[in-house]
Amino acid sequence: MTTAAQMRDRTALVTGGSSGIGAAVADALARAGAHLVLVARNGARLEQTAEGIRSRYGVTVTTIALDLAAQGAVGRLLERLEGDGVEVELLVGNAALAPRGLVVEGDPAVLRRMVDLNVGALTELTAAVTTGMVERGHGSVVVIASTGGSAPTPVLAAYAASKAYVLSFTQALWAETRHSGVRVVAVSPGPTRTPMNATVGRWGRRPEQVAATVLTALDGSGPSVVDGRGNAVAAAVLRLLPTRVVTALALRVFTR
Ligand SMILES: NC(=O)c1ccc[n+]([C@@H]2O[C@H](COP(=O)([O-])OP(=O)(O)OC[C@H]3O[C@@H](n4cnc5c(N)ncnc54)[C@H](OP(=O)(O)O)[C@@H]3O)[C@@H](O)[C@H]2O)c1
Repeated sequence: MTTAAQMRDRTALVTGGSSGIGAAVADALARAGAHLVLVARNGARLEQTAEGIRSRYGVTVTTIALDLAAQGAVGRLLERLEGDGVEVELLVGNAALAPRGLVVEGDPAVLRRMVDLNVGALTELTAAVTTGMVERGHGSVVVIASTGGSAPTPVLAAYAASKAYVLSFTQALWAETRHSGVRVVAVSPGPTRTPMNATVGRWGRRPEQVAATVLTALDGSGPSVVDGRGNAVAAAVLRLLPTRVVTALALRVFTR
């Protein structure tokens, strides 16, 4: 287990670190003295985020422009880290896509790419990095799930299913590693004001609030944390509602 306070001069790998929640977590970790490796597709946006963090905190920020959903991408990332001699003390598995629309009106290939990123790349990277940490006997892994994974969600069908997978996988990994010296935890944000959720408006949480929850989660010992009390209640209620009710509610919210 490595807490945020112990990250000074150690390296955190943040996927999707150029924007939204990933950028806010990266910023908070750098403020705590961590060096960063940030991964996302758009190299220019990544470098812009990295430069802001470097100038604010004076830490080392390495950027790797990579489409994690591409075949072999996780292997190339791991090779690059090994080649650079980077030991990842904290992994924040955050990069995800959330294409909206009815399944029958969308492009099946887009859903496939989303699963490749949200499920495939996340699983491969988390498994590889956690294995190294367990061998060394220290480190922490935060996986960003979603309260959207609490129930089947029309219009975000594959995304919600991917987040149900992410939560289940991470909680099981927590159980497998809890006595290994490595901290594994899932953090589930609810609606948050980022480019992914541009329509959420003022009632959404701010990415900085989610980042604070991520850092606090590192100090804890449980398998998962929901960001925000209201979101925790909403996620619990969603789990209890019958499928007919919860899916009708989602359809009404997302298609009005
Ligand atoms: N916003 C919400 O309401 C909300 C709610 C619950 C959970 N979450 C979760 O929070 C996490 C962050 O979401 P966000 O809202 O901060 O979204 P965001 O602002 O859209 O950021 C997504 C990040 O992932 C990167 N990314 C996307 N596709 C990628 C790929 N194929 N390979 C590598 N990087 C990729 C993006 O950069 P590029 O586009 O340059 O690749 C960006 O840095 C996600 O796991 C999301 O599911 C968000």
